[in-house]
Amino acid sequence: MISPILTVPASGPASNGSLAAALEGGAVLMFPDLDFPFSDFERRFTERPFADGKAKNVNIRGEAATLRGAAGTPEEQEALRQLLVRYRAFSKDLIARHLPEYASGISLAGTSYRPFDVDRRKMSWRRDDTRLHVDAFPSNPIGEKRILRVFRNINPSGQPRLWRVGEDFGSMADKFLPKLPGYSALSARLLAALRITKARRSEYDHLMLHLHDALKQDADYQAGAPQADVEFLPGQTWVTFSDLVMHGAMGGRYMLEQTAYLPVSAQADPDKSPQRILARKLGRPLQ
Ligand code: SIN
Ligand code: FE
Repeated sequence: MISPILTVPASGPASNGSLAAALEGGAVLMFPDLDFPFSDFERRFTERPFADGKAKNVNIRGEAATLRGAAGTPEEQEALRQLLVRYRAFSKDLIARHLPEYASGISLAGTSYRPFDVDRRKMSWRRDDTRLHVDAFPSNPIGEKRILRVFRNINPSGQPRLWRVGEDFGSMADKFLPKLPGYSALSARLLAALRITKARRSEYDHLMLHLHDALKQDADYQAGAPQADVEFLPGQTWVTFSDLVMHGAMGGRYMLEQTAYLPVSAQADPDKSPQRILARKLGRPLQ
């Protein structure tokens, strides 16, 4: 089954838990008409990239919301920081309103401004997000948490954000799980001792990293796997578990993104998590 895109009009019926169920089942929720207005001053952020060009994105992290990777005058950088702080609040409100069962368990992580064209050239295969993948963070083990992301296309000239979405996580895992190398608790401890990872890489983290890499490296799978093109138009906001939903970004520029973490135990149905799906397929709890 290919991940469905579920349109959620703001004027529609108040959510009653079914949105969380859809999201956990692998849907992308698309909100076509949420307001996130820009001031006249802020319009410059979609006219040219206010980025130092060293990293893929500009972002804020942590309570202090320190801005990283930005360019511009001090006044412009402070305005960009405020814009990201406002987008973080917008994402939090969206979750509180449409996914109320997550409100108490969720924690908001980084917020990013992505002004550059999705780059199809001269990128290593591992960092090439045009290839279908599930998200996994090499240095930041995720353990018993889920990755929920809130995206918004802020392109000023009508250009869509082009994505591909792929087949459901379970079908993908059936094909790739048998090919992955085994987990070593010893090397996980070593990586943490050497501070290559910020915490111990769990077996789940190990499997997700190797899935991410195996997927991106498999040209036949990329070309032939079940998939669908999706266009997210300017003004649209979309939400998905990016650790569960197979996705690739094919084109577009100027987007905002909020990352949030949800404990597996805070899901409406923890059995739908990639953690439990992988454990079931292996027939044992993960280490
Ligand atoms: C990704 O998470 O793979 C990239 C999403 C995007 O930049 O549209
Ligand atoms: Fe991704």
